[in-house]
Amino acid sequence: MSQDSSDAAPQVQPDDPNIAVAYEEGGRYWTADDVPTFNVAADGTVDWLTFSGYRRYNSECIVCHGPDGEGSTYAPAIKNSAVQMGYYDFVGVVVNGRKNGNSVMPQFGDNLNVMCYLDDIYVYLKARGVDAIPRGRPGSKEAKSDMIQEEENVCMG
Ligand code: HEC
Repeated sequence: MSQDSSDAAPQVQPDDPNIAVAYEEGGRYWTADDVPTFNVAADGTVDWLTFSGYRRYNSECIVCHGPDGEGSTYAPAIKNSAVQMGYYDFVGVVVNGRKNGNSVMPQFGDNLNVMCYLDDIYVYLKARGVDAIPRGRPGSKEAKSDMIQEEENVCMG
């Protein structure tokens, strides 16, 4: 982990295949590689997951990583990590944690309040990382779909 990896905004083109929406299913948006991504309408309305991710980030991650993924003295900025690390490495770090001397990212693999919303947090940070959404609480959002609600119920048990 180096601060440098998170400082500069990544150069992302809107049609970047790692960002661009290839298809939508039940209110979830996906890239061509079947990786979750965000959707922001022209009027700024965000998809449900991005909004939900903002809320989950603020309850589980903000204490160390600071508001809006901008980092704190304790933990690095992670608003660019979702884009730079990619989905699978991002998930791996959150599930398993990571230790670098005194710098410790806890593991969240047993925490349903994180695990059931991992895609939400990921797409929220992805949107932040490419400045698709500004800092702060997203103003308007898509409705939560029945499919997302059902998956949440199953996941939370
Ligand atoms: C107790 C403090 C703490 C909490 C809470 C925390 N983190 Fe971390 N996180 C860290 C630290 C410290 C590091 C840097 C670890 C290192 O140096 O390897 C880190 C690193 C990371 C990284 C790797 C960043 C990169 O670019 O390499 C990701 C991704 C991450 N955290 C995501 C999250 C998410 C998502 C949450 C909320 C679910 C979260 N963290 C909650 C302290 C925390």
